Amino acid sequence: MKNSRTLTADVQIPYLGFGTYLIANDDVVAPVRAAIAAGYRHIDTAEGYENEAGVGAGIKQALESEGLARNELFVTTKLWPGNTAWGQTAKTTESTVTSLDESLRRLGLSYVDLYLIHAPFEREQRLAQWRGLVELKRQGKARAIGVSNFSVKHIEELKAAGLPLPDANQIELHPWSQKTALVRYLEDNRITPIAYSSLVPLSTWRTAEGHASAKTDQMKADGAQADTPFKVMARKYGVSEAQVLLRWAIQKGYPVLPKSTSPDRIRKNADLFGFALDEGDMAAIAKMDRGDGVAWPMGDPTKAA
Ligand SMILES: NC(=O)c1ccc[n+]([C@@H]2O[C@H](COP(=O)([O-])OP(=O)(O)OC[C@H]3O[C@@H](n4cnc5c(N)ncnc54)[C@H](OP(=O)(O)O)[C@@H]3O)[C@@H](O)[C@H]2O)c1
Repeated sequence: MKNSRTLTADVQIPYLGFGTYLIANDDVVAPVRAAIAAGYRHIDTAEGYENEAGVGAGIKQALESEGLARNELFVTTKLWPGNTAWGQTAKTTESTVTSLDESLRRLGLSYVDLYLIHAPFEREQRLAQWRGLVELKRQGKARAIGVSNFSVKHIEELKAAGLPLPDANQIELHPWSQKTALVRYLEDNRITPIAYSSLVPLSTWRTAEGHASAKTDQMKADGAQADTPFKVMARKYGVSEAQVLLRWAIQKGYPVLPKSTSPDRIRKNADLFGFALDEGDMAAIAKMDRGDGVAWPMGDPTKAA
């Protein structure tokens, strides 16, 4: 299969991206460098991760050491929209536009390949923020624009206002949260689904202190079993469980964003194009859906009012 997917007429998005959530600014330089050296050409960060400066430093160092040009790398960042329910100020069109300027300054870049609204929290300001992203695309500061954690209802709001549709929607997608109706809607509307938290079913997913999630005790127990279906498949293909989960996503057409701070896992998670899950395994995984996502400790944000 190809290693990238068409995002817009001018922009290809690499299937393999590197996630940086929960890697602190001071710690993120080395993993970003390691990822780019291992072949990742797509890096995902966000204003809300408070690590854009470190991500930018890692990108700069890796471009030099790997002899790459900026246009060989795909970089995503996200607007933190503000959440009044959490005592924050909601961004307006104007503060959305200046937010990307600040992200670019921290990243040390003149443009990003994709700019996303991180979540649909701000009902009163959703359209205003989207207008800001449309303006940023017009200015060339974001080559493509999209949303994250938006449901069909949230995207229909944009459509009803006569605004251009997003190029992508980054959502929690893995065998335990397949969101089939939302994905069908996205594909029908030419919106690329980007998968985050692909590795939720692993027993090792976010076990570090403070890396909270809404994963249930049942899920934790199931992930720790000696013979999970993913372990069985991993043995069959001679790969890791993580590779099975990531390969499932890209075979479905979803770019993935595995995060790791381990150089060995970073390298192995990138090895996705030398094997394929057979039809029987894809059909077996299709039956494993358990519903809503678990990456956000306070509940699946696609459910936002
Ligand atoms: N838009 C959103 O709202 C949103 C929400 C969540 C995530 N994201 C994006 O998506 C990215 C990925 O999601 P995520 O960080 O939630 O989780 P993930 O990438 O699915 O999983 C990361 C977890 O799995 C472990 N891990 C990684 N590779 C492994 C391997 N080969 N074997 C065993 N364990 C492994 C990591 O530990 P080690 O680091 O110790 O290896 C970490 O605990 C994020 O970093 C972020 O960029 C976006």
